[in-house]
Amino acid sequence: RFGMVHENAAKRDFDTTAGPGHRPGDAPASGAEDGPERGSADGPATGRENGPRAVTVVDRTGCLIIPGFNDLHVHAPQLPMAGLGFDHELLPWLERYTFRAEARYADIDLADRWYRRFVNRMWRVGTLRFSAFATLHDDATLRLMELCQRSGLRPMVGKVNMDRNAPDYLIEDTDASLAGTEALVRRSRELTPDVGFVVTPRFVPSTTPALMRGLGKLVARYGLPVQSHLDENRDEITWVRELHPDIPTYAEVYERYGLMPEGRTIMAHCIWLTDRERALLRERRVRLAHCAQSNADLRSGIMPVRRDLEAGLDVTIASDVAGSHEPHMTRHIVQSIEVSKLKTFEAGHEDDRPLRLSEAFHMATKAPGAFFGRVGSFEPGFEFDALVVRREDSPLDLSPEERLERFVYTGDDRDILERYVAGRLVPEPFPER
Ligand code: GUN
Ligand code: FE
Repeated sequence: RFGMVHENAAKRDFDTTAGPGHRPGDAPASGAEDGPERGSADGPATGRENGPRAVTVVDRTGCLIIPGFNDLHVHAPQLPMAGLGFDHELLPWLERYTFRAEARYADIDLADRWYRRFVNRMWRVGTLRFSAFATLHDDATLRLMELCQRSGLRPMVGKVNMDRNAPDYLIEDTDASLAGTEALVRRSRELTPDVGFVVTPRFVPSTTPALMRGLGKLVARYGLPVQSHLDENRDEITWVRELHPDIPTYAEVYERYGLMPEGRTIMAHCIWLTDRERALLRERRVRLAHCAQSNADLRSGIMPVRRDLEAGLDVTIASDVAGSHEPHMTRHIVQSIEVSKLKTFEAGHEDDRPLRLSEAFHMATKAPGAFFGRVGSFEPGFEFDALVVRREDSPLDLSPEERLERFVYTGDDRDILERYVAGRLVPEPFPER
């Protein structure tokens, strides 16, 4: 059922060439390098044709080893406001809470402190790759990228663009927004080679046509990915319609301005899609970020996930912190399943099959992992991103699949003993004393 779950029973029955001082758990573990077997400074290759490669054996017998979680929609600066303002819907929540919180990141010291906490938190909950919105501040965004680079995690990060319908303390000039974005693309390529830059227009109401057009040119020129929000809240959709009466649907606004590059686009929420939008998203191979907890917290709606999957859309499960209150992907997996079950009581959805755990787990690992390359699975050719999960002392004789179920429903970050990204053990990035 779960093609990706392995019960690790590594045996020390073949040569290792790791030298003295290399203990199990030391980075790099096996798989960090490609290509044929090589000797190392510490010892020769085994010389066996087709034999095992020179590896350090890390024995985690008894633990559950699962792919790391990948979260395609999270707002890094919103961590300090997680849980606030959920008596409001999206637009008043943005005005009363979100913009005020994000404005604080003009202070680079505050940004540094809270972005360290954010990176730590993602590490702790086992979200090894993510696509994050930062704020419109260029310096603070670069700082987040640098902290991510130092952490050993391999996310994507975007400076938020917003030049209209925003308070005067959190708005930018169109040309400055474009120039700042391009400068960050170049600087991050130099300074943070393992952290990708993703073009991040906040959402259509926040970005003028001139800004969207300019960003679309950057996307084409630099081959960049794009992330934004789409069809989240009904008042938001009405507003987009008023702003762009000449464009038939919300999704087509992004398309019109070159902000839907094929296979490189994430759209968050997508609750209220029309069939015309579904066809466009399928054609562009857009990754949809299903944010079930946020959709409940902000009373945005219930995404028809089964319908979208059946329409051939690529749906992933994402946190949307702090439209939601909790970064841990196991909570989002569970909530997506629960909401999917509840949806079957709605008129017109009685025949929907609710999400199964195996599907939801896939939507939080392998499906979003594809945004980062060959990530999110233990199939040959994939990068080794893994969580080592503690064995539970159980009176029941549980299969590996059942142990995964237990972890997803009842476990938490204390059960995650180790995190590996691209074959390397990643320690806690910024321990707080
Ligand atoms: N739409 C525009 N900005 C935001 C945001 O920060 N969070 C959510 N959930 N939706 C948005
Ligand atoms: Fe969001």
